[in-house]
Amino acid sequence: MSSNSGKIKKIAICTGGGDAPGLNAVIHAAVLSAINRGWKVLGIRDGYNGLMFPENYVSGGLIPLTRDAVRGITSLGGTILGTTNKGNPMSFPVRRPDGTIEEVDRTDELIRLFCLHEIDALISIGGDGSLTIANVLAKKGLRVIGVPKTIDNDLDKTVITFGFDTAVSYATEAIDRLHSTAESHQRVMVVELMGRYAGWIALNAGMPASADVILIPEIPYDLAKVAEKIKELENRGKRYGIIVVAEGAKPKEGTISVVKPKEAGRAERLGGAGERVTRELEELTGREIRTVVLGHLLRGGSPTAFDRLLALRFGAAAVRALDEGQSGIMVALAPPTVNYVPLMEATNRMKVVPLDSDAIKTARDLGICFGD
Ligand code: F6P
Repeated sequence: MSSNSGKIKKIAICTGGGDAPGLNAVIHAAVLSAINRGWKVLGIRDGYNGLMFPENYVSGGLIPLTRDAVRGITSLGGTILGTTNKGNPMSFPVRRPDGTIEEVDRTDELIRLFCLHEIDALISIGGDGSLTIANVLAKKGLRVIGVPKTIDNDLDKTVITFGFDTAVSYATEAIDRLHSTAESHQRVMVVELMGRYAGWIALNAGMPASADVILIPEIPYDLAKVAEKIKELENRGKRYGIIVVAEGAKPKEGTISVVKPKEAGRAERLGGAGERVTRELEELTGREIRTVVLGHLLRGGSPTAFDRLLALRFGAAAVRALDEGQSGIMVALAPPTVNYVPLMEATNRMKVVPLDSDAIKTARDLGICFGD
């Protein structure tokens, strides 16, 4: 690793956390922009694993990212580098002799590895967790630019993240398809969508897909209100209903649905929010209700044109930032432009749906019930 002001010869790119459509487009743009400046580019496999555990990879933990390596990847979902949301290097799980797990900070070791491979700078593409690690690495002297990624769109300081539009488009189409079967069978359908602690996907897909009820983490729900809404639909002669539930939605007096609690080096795993609504609502209404969980389908597939373009802009902007001598910042969408914000600010707080937003007001004007 050279000093913060030295000339860049070689950079690395890594992708961390859950994948999102558009990651490959960021890689494509960053690689071409870097190569066009005469820089070499390495891809780190599976977050930082390729750097920390190269012995686990048959063809090495670092991939040379050449023009050929990134040709044609803009339209591909996933990430050609692989990713992980386990083994955060800031709180790396290590088993003690007595069998208990200890969390160890391995970021100093990471910095040494960047030096060893003569990597002058890093482009870290990830969500809240990855960008927090990126900030620590920047503070320890590595030149780092963060690129925000999450289908949940809950990262602060950027109007939108790539992957969100693809997830919303897919969810909207999926919910559209439920209307005819729900109507034919006079059923209520509950659709659970991703969105851990923010309801952006549920709101932005539920409204255009004409949901009757949208339950989001920002508005704890009372199922009695939802049952009233179902009754109201019945009274108006509508014999079916569509309820969209964000995976992080929770009842007024309750907690979110967790299937696996937080472990060393990884976050809690959510699940079951939709099924919980279905069970309790069946009892309250006596109606036949079915649950559909879209889950990881929202993370798959080819990115929409919007996400591809945003991701390409982010990738190129990250390289321009390095070329300008910047570090410790994240590229962000501030329409009509892409700007830079300190990583520290971007990871300070989560961006949730503002309850006074026009989208929430519009949904209420349309008669959509939030269970409150
Ligand atoms: O944060 C993005 C996200 O897609 C969440 O909506 C979801 O809870 C989580 O990732 C699931 O991650 P995993 O890959 O561990 O199942």
